[in-house]
Amino acid sequence: MQAKNGSKSGRKPGTGAARTAKRRPSAGTRPSAPAEARTAIAAAAPRAVAQASDRPIEQIIFPYINRIAAERNIDRLLLLLADFGRDLISADRCTVWLCNEKDGTLWSKVAHGVDRMSIPKTKGIAGWVAMHGEALIINDPYNDERFDKDVDKRTGYRTRSMLSLPIKDADDRTVGVYQAVNKLTGTSGFSELDKEHLLLAATYTGEVLKAAQLQEEIESTQREIIFTMAEAGEMRSKETGQHVKRVAEYCRLFGEKHGLSETETETLKLSSPMHDIGKIAIPDAILLKPSKLDDAEWVVMRSHSTLGHDMLKYSDRRLLRSAAIIAWQHHEKWNGTGYPCGLKGEAIHIYGRITALADVFDALASDRPYKKAWELDRIVKLFETERGAHFDPDLARIFLENIDAFVKIRNAYKDETEKPSEPSSCPPH
Ligand code: C2E
Ligand code: SIN
Ligand code: SIN
Ligand code: FE
Ligand code: FE
Repeated sequence: MQAKNGSKSGRKPGTGAARTAKRRPSAGTRPSAPAEARTAIAAAAPRAVAQASDRPIEQIIFPYINRIAAERNIDRLLLLLADFGRDLISADRCTVWLCNEKDGTLWSKVAHGVDRMSIPKTKGIAGWVAMHGEALIINDPYNDERFDKDVDKRTGYRTRSMLSLPIKDADDRTVGVYQAVNKLTGTSGFSELDKEHLLLAATYTGEVLKAAQLQEEIESTQREIIFTMAEAGEMRSKETGQHVKRVAEYCRLFGEKHGLSETETETLKLSSPMHDIGKIAIPDAILLKPSKLDDAEWVVMRSHSTLGHDMLKYSDRRLLRSAAIIAWQHHEKWNGTGYPCGLKGEAIHIYGRITALADVFDALASDRPYKKAWELDRIVKLFETERGAHFDPDLARIFLENIDAFVKIRNAYKDETEKPSEPSSCPPH
């Protein structure tokens, strides 16, 4: 992994959407690994061919500004901003670090396909800038004690010059560090003019990052709400939380095999656990009845689809809108004999069609108050029979062709029968 990899010439800034690791920086991030970080950064940001110095600056800025303004995914935004800074001042590479107040680290997305990286806020030039909130130009890093030489030692990358700026929010708090390494033009390293130019980018960065972080915060809150509500619903019907996890995974697999986009598949996966949320309004006497429902009870039971839709339909949020559709349509059938509306074929939303198969597979493979789990053979026969009747024929084909993968998910999220949930207890005092 060498830094001087000029072969990716002519690529557009930020080309190639990141497969984003949807993670909070505070939880589950890889352990701090500056050496790895350095290697990955060096590999990820090969020198740009078109250099800033021989182009009017606005020609560099305008294309980036539009793309940056439109980008709401925080990982892609960090990469885009890094490319922007690098091209703006002719650096070999550039990294936009964000402060994580909770654990005192700086983290960044340093390469497409590579996880987020973090470094301690107490180390290196980047750490110094984050702590002091002041810009630093260092054109002789090996004679600066703040510089962390070990990183170069371990990666073979030679840092010659470094320009690091604090990124500040509207209240003048340092929220990150914009760091450029190795000036490519001239021999004297980074200049005051480079600093002014990068400052321009850094000023703009504070605002867009805030918006993107807010967006990520909202989406992760939505995910938590959906999962918690779905689990609450399942607890009522004495199904374990495993049911909603399995349905989510089956839906993801269907989405991938059916060729839905990555975003659609993710949306489906995250919102499908809500399909039966309407059951929280169904009385126990019906929901937990150990035998067949009578006609009147069946009318009440079927209302869980419209009830779920009514609970969710007022939200404008993407995940909740999707959850509303799924709650509403997961009992519709391909041949038009389902409920609540008797929709037919592709008039049923693809999310509803997919969740129907995921839900029935999981219901059949599990014990319910009113039935025992079925053998796999019997389940397969039902899917063959219902192909084109209850189920979208293409989705039934996907199920039958990938039955092993579905069973694998089933086994990975087994119901633990004798696990009464511990009531919360008070801490000792
Ligand atoms: P569920 O238990 O989550 O079942 C979801 C779907 O799986 C059912 O939707 C049905 O399409 C399929 N399914 C489940 N068990 C069987 C089965 O033994 N045979 C067949 N052929 N399909 C099965 P459906 O029928 O619209 O039922 C919706 C919900 O109504 C069920 O959700 C369950 O909560 C309740 N329910 C359905 N039938 C009964 C029953 O006889 N007694 C009780 N107590 N509840 C029932
Ligand atoms: C880096 O160079 O990427 C971080 C280490 C430092 O700022 O000295
Ligand atoms: C599909 O079924 O291929 C996706 C389009 C749709 O929502 O029907
Ligand atoms: Fe249902
Ligand atoms: Fe269900």
